Amino acid sequence: MDGTHLPVLVAETLAALAPERGGLYVDATVGLGGHAEALLGDAPGARLVGVDRDEQALALAGERLAPFGDRVRLVRGTFDRIAELLAGAGVEGKAAGILADLGVSSLQLDRPERGFSFRFKGPLDMRMGGGERTAADIVNHSTEAELEEIIKEYGEEWRARRIARAIVEAREEEPIETTADLRAVIDRAKGGRRDREGRVDPATRVFQALRIAVNDELAGLEAFLDQALRLLDGDGRLVIISYHSLEDRIVKNRLRDAARGEVDPVTGRPRAETRLIEVLTRKPVRPGAAEVAWNPRSRSARLRAARRL
Ligand SMILES: C[S@@+](CC[C@H](N)C(=O)[O-])C[C@H]1O[C@@H](n2cnc3c(N)ncnc32)[C@H](O)[C@@H]1O
Repeated sequence: MDGTHLPVLVAETLAALAPERGGLYVDATVGLGGHAEALLGDAPGARLVGVDRDEQALALAGERLAPFGDRVRLVRGTFDRIAELLAGAGVEGKAAGILADLGVSSLQLDRPERGFSFRFKGPLDMRMGGGERTAADIVNHSTEAELEEIIKEYGEEWRARRIARAIVEAREEEPIETTADLRAVIDRAKGGRRDREGRVDPATRVFQALRIAVNDELAGLEAFLDQALRLLDGDGRLVIISYHSLEDRIVKNRLRDAARGEVDPVTGRPRAETRLIEVLTRKPVRPGAAEVAWNPRSRSARLRAARRL
């Protein structure tokens, strides 16, 4: 439902960002403004720039955050260009904290016309904003090998080959235009079987894979992390919440490397003086059972945090 997005791991996010210190905070995925509202409400000395690629989300965030007046600025764009976006909006100075709560918002998932969810019939779109290529374009125009690769890599789906084949056969009859069409093809290919864990719907991994491909999510995340680390002030905090293992692996590795420092080409050892951050979360922080019960979307969330040295 619109406007009712429940932010995930809020207390843990605020504990790591420590907004009571005041200063500039950047929410790189402001979405429906849930985390932003909690942060601004908690810390009268904090200002926030909220970025999102989704126009509809930004409009709703604008309404929700209006009570905070000029403590909030909203900027549309993708976070792989975060440094440029902030400079373009005239935001000066380093940030005391940067947050990215990755993935889709409930607004995107719950609007059938956005095509993210197999729970509703809608056009196979899945663009979060700013892209040309829809999921239908990928499904109907990629080669079988490309489809297999996308489904295997981004969906970690072990029946990728069989599903890619089924897609190509189905589209030879007629184009696959809707979420329901695609779901029916996947169901046929997988014989309606759920994944090994038994909980995951047969279509989940393929829909995830297409969404990642449509929005170029993983490459964008790497570019974002590099810039975010450099935009932080001394003692500045970075918090990333991810929802699947592909994202979490990128975050974990990038933070580990930045905490070790650059490798000296002569000795092959990291140079301590080039360390950028200290990692604050040895293991990712997961929601407790109570949060998962009242907000099932939080189930797969993993939070990692770092502090700029
Ligand atoms: C899980 S939601 C964020 C929810 C938000 N924390 C809240 O409490 O309402 C993720 C948001 O990130 C946005 N997003 C995803 N990838 C993005 C990117 N590369 N650049 C900017 N925004 C992105 C999506 O459009 C979506 O609105």
